[in-house]
Amino acid sequence: MKISQEALPPGYNYKNQPDCTDLGHIPGTFGLPIIGHIPWIFSDLRGLSGKLRDKYGPIAKLNIGGSKGIFVANPDVVKDIFLDPHRNFSNEKAFENTIGRFFSGGLLLIDFDEHKAQRRLFQTAFKAEPMKQYILQMNNIIAKQIPSWGDIDSFTFFPHIKQCLLTTSASIFIGVDNKDEIKMLNQNFVDMFDGMVSIIQKEIPGTKWASAKRALRNLKRHYESLIPLRRETDSSSDFLSYLSKEKQPDGSFFSDQQIVDHINFLLMAAHDTTASSLTNIIMELAKNPQWQERLRQQSKGLSKDCLDYDDLEGMVDFDNVLLEAQRLHPSIPMSWRRSIRECEIEGYAIPPNTLIYMPLLHNYRDPTWWSNPDQFDPDRFLPARSEHKRHNFAFTPFGGGAHKCIGLHFAGMQVKCFLHQFLCRYRFTVKEGYAPKLMMIPMPKPQDDLPLYLEKI
Ligand code: HEM
Repeated sequence: MKISQEALPPGYNYKNQPDCTDLGHIPGTFGLPIIGHIPWIFSDLRGLSGKLRDKYGPIAKLNIGGSKGIFVANPDVVKDIFLDPHRNFSNEKAFENTIGRFFSGGLLLIDFDEHKAQRRLFQTAFKAEPMKQYILQMNNIIAKQIPSWGDIDSFTFFPHIKQCLLTTSASIFIGVDNKDEIKMLNQNFVDMFDGMVSIIQKEIPGTKWASAKRALRNLKRHYESLIPLRRETDSSSDFLSYLSKEKQPDGSFFSDQQIVDHINFLLMAAHDTTASSLTNIIMELAKNPQWQERLRQQSKGLSKDCLDYDDLEGMVDFDNVLLEAQRLHPSIPMSWRRSIRECEIEGYAIPPNTLIYMPLLHNYRDPTWWSNPDQFDPDRFLPARSEHKRHNFAFTPFGGGAHKCIGLHFAGMQVKCFLHQFLCRYRFTVKEGYAPKLMMIPMPKPQDDLPLYLEKI
C-alpha cells in the first residue's frame, strides 16, 4: 500500500471531516437507496463478500446504511491497516456512525496517542497476577451456574452462557455480585444488542432502537452510580475501582464520562464476544462428538473439579478448538477503519476520509490459506501443519496492531475454564441433522440460540 507523504495542512483535523463518498472510480455500486448493503450484510455477509469479489475483483464499493466506503479483503491490506505504521487509519471516525452510537469513548474507538495512554492503564488489569485472581472468580461462578442447566426443559445454550459470562465480567471488572443487579445489566445488554442493528435508527417510542438507547442510558446511569462508591472503598480490587481512583498526569481523576464509556465497552467486549464464541464451539463439539470426547478425556485426565492457572498453557487442543471455531464463525467477522491521508489500495487511489471495510471472515475460508476450509479440523493449527502461518494476516480473530484484543488471554482462560467443567459434567448433543440458520450480526451464533440435549455424566 502506498500512503501520501504530504504533510497535513496546519490546523487540519481529520476528526472534523465528513466521510468521503466520492468513490465513483471504485468498482461496484452503493446498493439500495438509504440502507445500502444492509440486507445482505445481515443475512449472508460471507455470501456478499464472495459475490463482490467474484463480480468486481479485490476492491468494491460497500454501503452500510449510508456509511459509504470500500470493501477489501486482501490480507496484505489487512496487515497494513491493522499495523498502520504511518498512523493513517482512524478507529474513532470509522466506528462513529455504527457501534460509536453505543460505545463512543470505548478503548477500540480512540485513536493514536490518547489510545496508547489509556490502553496502558487497561494492561494492568490483564497481567498474570490479576489473571490468577480472576480464574478463581470464574471457576466459582461456573460451578454455581451450570449444575442446574441439566434440569431445564428445552435448554438453549446461548442465553445461559451469556448470563454466566456477564456475571463473571461484572464481578471481575465492576465488582458487582448481586443477582438482581446482574439481571438488570443482562436485560439491558440484551435490549441494547437487539436494537442496535435496527434499520430505523430514530428514537421513535415502541421501536427496538428506542429500547436500545434506553438500555444504554440505564447501563451508563448504573456505572456512574458506582463510581463514588468505588472511590470510597480502599479494599476493592475490580477494574472500575482502579479506573475510578487512578489519576491522570495533571493529578485529576478521569472524568465520570470517560470511566463510564470505558466500562460500557469493556463489559460488552468481555462477555458478548466470548458468549458467541462458546456457543459456536459447543455447536461444533456437539456436531463432532469425537472432538467432544477428545477434550473430555483430557479434562478428566487432570482429575480436578476446576482448572488452575498453571493448567492453561498445556491445553493445546482447547486452544485449537477455540481458534477453529473462530475461523469458521468469527466473533468479529468484519472490521473497518477510516483513512486520514490519500493512499493507494489494489491500484486505486483512496481519498482521505474514506471508510475501508475489511471482511475478515472472507480470508478465514479462502482455500489459498486453508485445506478443506469448510471442515471443522482444529488440528490444522498444530505445529506440523500450522495453516494459520501461511500468511500472518489471513487469520486475525483477535485483530492486530495497536488495537489488538486486550482480552485475548482472558477469553482463552474463560473458554477453557468453562469447557473443563461443562465437559466433565455433561455429554451434549444436538438433534439429528441439526443445521440451524447462522446469524452474523450483531454476534455470530445459531439463530435458534442452540437447543442442546444435556446428559449428566
Ligand atoms: C473470543 C473472544 C474475543 C474475540 C474474538 C475478540 C476479538 C477482538 C478483536 C478482533 C478486536 C479488535 C477489533 C479491531 O481492531 O477492529 C478486539 C478488541 C478489544 N477486545 Fe476483544 N475479543 C474477545 C474477547 C475479549 C475479552 C474477553 C475482552 C475483555 C476482557 C476483550 C476486550 C477487548 C478490548 C478492550 C478491545 C479494544 C482494544 C484496543 O482498542 O486497544 N475482548 N477484540
